[in-house]
Formats: sequence, structure tokens, C-alpha cells
Amino acid sequence: MRDIYLDFNASTPVAHEVADIMRRALETGHGNPSSGHWAGVPARQMVEHARTQVADPLGCAPQEIVFTSGGSEANNHALKGVFFASGKERPHFITSSAEHPAIVAPLRFLERLGAQVTWLPVDGTGMVDPDDLRRAITGDTVLVTIMHANNETGTIQPIAECAAIAREHGVRFHTDAAQSVGKIPTRVDELGVDLLTMAGHKFHAPKGVGALFIRDGLQLEPFIHGAGHESGRRAGTESAMLTAALGVAASLASDLGPMERVQVLRDRFWDALKNAFGDRVVLNGHPERRLPNTLNVAFVGRVGAEILVAMPEVAASTGSACHSGRDQLSPVLEAMGTEPQVGMGAIRFSLGRTTTANEIDHVVTRLRRVLS
Ligand SMILES: Cc1ncc(COP(=O)(O)O)c(C=O)c1O
Repeated sequence: MRDIYLDFNASTPVAHEVADIMRRALETGHGNPSSGHWAGVPARQMVEHARTQVADPLGCAPQEIVFTSGGSEANNHALKGVFFASGKERPHFITSSAEHPAIVAPLRFLERLGAQVTWLPVDGTGMVDPDDLRRAITGDTVLVTIMHANNETGTIQPIAECAAIAREHGVRFHTDAAQSVGKIPTRVDELGVDLLTMAGHKFHAPKGVGALFIRDGLQLEPFIHGAGHESGRRAGTESAMLTAALGVAASLASDLGPMERVQVLRDRFWDALKNAFGDRVVLNGHPERRLPNTLNVAFVGRVGAEILVAMPEVAASTGSACHSGRDQLSPVLEAMGTEPQVGMGAIRFSLGRTTTANEIDHVVTRLRRVLS
């Protein structure tokens, strides 16, 4: 059997339509989008068309989109931008204890600069309790940041409910939606968020491009100071190639129809694992409120990394792919209270639009053999 890719939460292949527009942008979009002459105009048109395409799945206005180099930059921009614009000496942030390092690390940095951070607990399925959020808000709270869907378990947080609580208290809300765009609805008004992060390579754009939604009227300190690109919010000459890629990928991602098939396959995968391994396999994450493509399972008493080594044709992750290769229990599973002898056996299978039933059957057969 050829190689099987079940690591779509780590990154996705570039879609053909995306590669086509990138090639076209390279051939025709070489001008500087800020130049008023014949060479700059097509590049500017590509960038602005892409902005409307990116705004579409979020249901926001194009001018509320700032292009970034990816999810990490968008998160850094949101958190540091609010910190520096707050004017407070000890601004207070609230987050969850199951966030991606691209939220955890900037918050740790801001703590060194004087920020106070409350890390809300999560339950055994990885969910925050909105009542904990309500209790954590103080007069100094400037931002709540809670991820939309978890990259390891797929657990979907009650963002609309949490954002409503923040709004009642006049506090801004950011969500890291790097994993949810293209998998579940991500409309900013339905979620009630003021800031939202997207990362192109999670939905079939190339690596190195993403976006931050910034609600109109919200003043953030610019992330990169320089010339007035991106309406003065992020300096640096825009890449027609990367922004056009993100635009086309966002258009493709706004059709969530293919995810229904992915979810059927994912559920069939889980049923097959339960049949094969009974109590020796455990689901990590919320049984229902979970990304349709994500299956994080723990093989009790085993080591996930060793299982993957024994079936090298299968690309999947233990812990999170961004920091794979380490042998500790993932901080997300730890925050969920997962026992180490269960959590160490965790493997995250994340399916994509091109995953086939044959591939799933092959992995189940291989797991039976490896674990027998
Ligand atoms: C939830 C989440 N946030 C942020 C990121 C970082 O995105 P990027 O790799 O585009 O910087 C990732 C990537 O793994 C992610 O899963």
C-alpha cells in the first residue's frame, strides 16, 4: 500500500486550484501592490480580491482582514496588539489550559512584561466551563483568548457562549480558529468574536500565510512597524502569490459539504478500532463536540510513538505535530487529566478531504497486526 497521510491537522497538501493561482500570480503579479503603475495594479487587485475571498467564510468585511505569515503571527498580533494598546500596567488575560503553543508562548512572554494571565481548567473532554470564565473576569481583563477547536483532540469550545460572557463585561474576545476553518462553521458574528486567527496551511494553502480578523473599530498596536501596508496594521510588502493562494483556499474551505463524508469515515474508523481493541483503546476529546476529521485515540499501556514507528507508511501524530518527537505526555492531555499510561499511547489521526475508506481499512489492519 502506498503512503497514507492522516495528519491533516498538522498540515494539508496545497490544492490544485491554489497552486494554479500561485503560478498565475508569480507570472503576472510581480509588481509592488502599493505601486500605482501598470505593474502594481494587477498585484494590488489580486491582494484585494483575496481579501474578499478570505472574509467570505468568516462573514466579515474585507477591511477587517489583515494578512499574516500564518497562525502563529496572527495569534502574536492579537495578544501583543491588545497588550500594548491597553495602556494598562498589568492587563489581565484569560485563556484555557489546552491552548496551542502559539497562544501559550506569547502569553508567557507578556507575563514577563507585566501581564496577568488566568489559565482556565478544562474537563476530561478538553472543554472549558463558561461559568469559570465568568468568575475569572476582573476590572483589569482586556482579552479572553480561547481556541475554537483543539489541534490534538478536535474538541470544540463553547465559543459563542464564552464570547457573550466577555461581551457582557465589555471585554474583547479572540479565538484561534487555525484548526476550524474549512472543517466547521467559523462566522465571526455567530461566534461573537472580535479577533480570529486563521492559518492557510491547515486548509490547503501553502505554509507561510494566514490572516487575523480584527473587528472594525478595535485598535491594536501594529505587529510589525514600518510602512503603511495593511492599513498601517502590519508592515511589509504584500505577496500577491501568498495572499491569492489564501483567497482561493478560503473559497474552497467555505464549502463544508466534503466534511460530512470525512466525518462518516472518521466514525467508521473509530467503530473499527473499538471492535478490534475493546477497552484497550480510549477516545481522547469530546465524543460529539469535536472536529469532524479528528480521531485522537490512546492505546492503553502502549507508546503511541512506537506504534507509528512500526507502521512507517502511515503519517499521523502523537501529541501535536508542531512539537512532535518528544516523549512527554502532551500538555493538552495532561490538562484534561489523562493518566500517563493512557495518554502516552495516544495517536492523533486527522483525516482530510482526500482520505479514502481503503486507507482507513488499511490502517486498522496494520494496527491489529502491530498491537497483537
Ligand atoms: C491551533 C493552532 N494554532 C496555531 C497554529 C500555528 O499556525 P502556523 O503554523 O500557521 O504558524 C497551529 C499549527 O499547528 C495550530 O494548530
